[in-house]
Amino acid sequence: MRMNDIIEKKRDGIALTDEEINFFIDGYTDGTIPDYQASALSMAIYFNGMTEQERATLTMRMVESGDTIDLSPIEGIKVDKHSTGGVGDTTTLVLAPLVAAVGVPVAKMSGRGLGHTGGTIDKLEAVPGFHVEIENDEFIRLVNENKISVIGQSGNLTPADKKLYGLRDVTATVNSIPLIASSIMSKKIAAGADAIVLDVKTGAGAFMKSEEESIELAKAMVSIGNNVGRQTMAVISDMGQPLGRAIGNALEVEEAIKTLRGEGPEDLTELSLTLGSQMVVVGGQAETLAEAREKLEAVIENGQALETFKTFLSSQGGDASVVDNVDGLPHAKYQIELPAKTSGYVSEIIADEIGQAASLLGAGRQTKDSVIDLAVGLVLNKKVGDYVEEGESLVTIHSNQENVDSIKEKLYHNMTITSEQIEAPALIKTIV
Ligand code: URA
Ligand code: CA
Repeated sequence: MRMNDIIEKKRDGIALTDEEINFFIDGYTDGTIPDYQASALSMAIYFNGMTEQERATLTMRMVESGDTIDLSPIEGIKVDKHSTGGVGDTTTLVLAPLVAAVGVPVAKMSGRGLGHTGGTIDKLEAVPGFHVEIENDEFIRLVNENKISVIGQSGNLTPADKKLYGLRDVTATVNSIPLIASSIMSKKIAAGADAIVLDVKTGAGAFMKSEEESIELAKAMVSIGNNVGRQTMAVISDMGQPLGRAIGNALEVEEAIKTLRGEGPEDLTELSLTLGSQMVVVGGQAETLAEAREKLEAVIENGQALETFKTFLSSQGGDASVVDNVDGLPHAKYQIELPAKTSGYVSEIIADEIGQAASLLGAGRQTKDSVIDLAVGLVLNKKVGDYVEEGESLVTIHSNQENVDSIKEKLYHNMTITSEQIEAPALIKTIV
């Protein structure tokens, strides 16, 4: 088999066989196929797409290119959730204890990453004492006992994807639906998921800016999952404006606590219940989405969701008293308000720009080695559709520096107030 024949075939729009995809992934992972041939093939895929069969094969071959996590000692169907990434997306912090409280085992491997805020692990580390450096046996034991544990990323998972994603990033071939879908699904499957729930974001703060593309990506991932024996469901949700009100690490922990108590922002609550219902169904703890939702609402109501969160925090060294008294979380030195310059309806809050403002305060990493300030961030006092009086606060800026003039400038620039009444945008666009 020769790589140039494979490239030629894909260039001419002919589907590749399983053997050809295997040959490419094996050769690219071990270095016998060079970057220039892999980039030519990626570009041919970008233009000509891939069949369902090709996508499934590519996904599983990338899974097999490295280590896989064996979660079989954990009882039950292990469900993982993946979000394509957004601003102030606090859902994992809410969902993990929420679905664990109804019996879905949450064995989560999570990352830190470069984002507007830290990743799930950074956020959890805002709880004093909490750590993710636990042995595998302990991780398994905790999930069997409490239905929930979060561990840091370890092992050499999907090296083929790592290498190919890096190459795509510099060859204008990231934005290909079959390549994105197989990249994301391979990572979830290698991490041991039996079933997967996807939150595909759409809008300014998302990877996919249009709803059509987001739906196409969701469908592609759902069909890969179902073709390789992992029940998969997806939600398309709005990321035009940030999710919830808090954007920052400790601030989002506080927001998650409120939501688990039933006092969270409406959009974050709704998204958590929607995604959570899918997790409960694919996790085999309910027959229908409606039944699943009732169960989730019940554990919020009766306090079990919050109790599960406390158990989870203390089982990994965290000070669970922060759940009842958030004074124990890191707090920024200054709380500075951003007064509205005019009265009217908030019509736009551009998610990615607002996220960057939080990052500039120190909530996110600018480089891999940056140190995050867990205390800082933003709290949106108004969201799209809300009425604001001149002088009323739009945003509370939580900062450890006194001068936030440039942050204020950026926030004003990316929040619009109009005189006409505005409808709040629909949060859940579609369910796939
Ligand atoms: N995220 C991924 O993990 N892979 C892609 O290809 C794109 C986004
Ligand atoms: Ca939030």
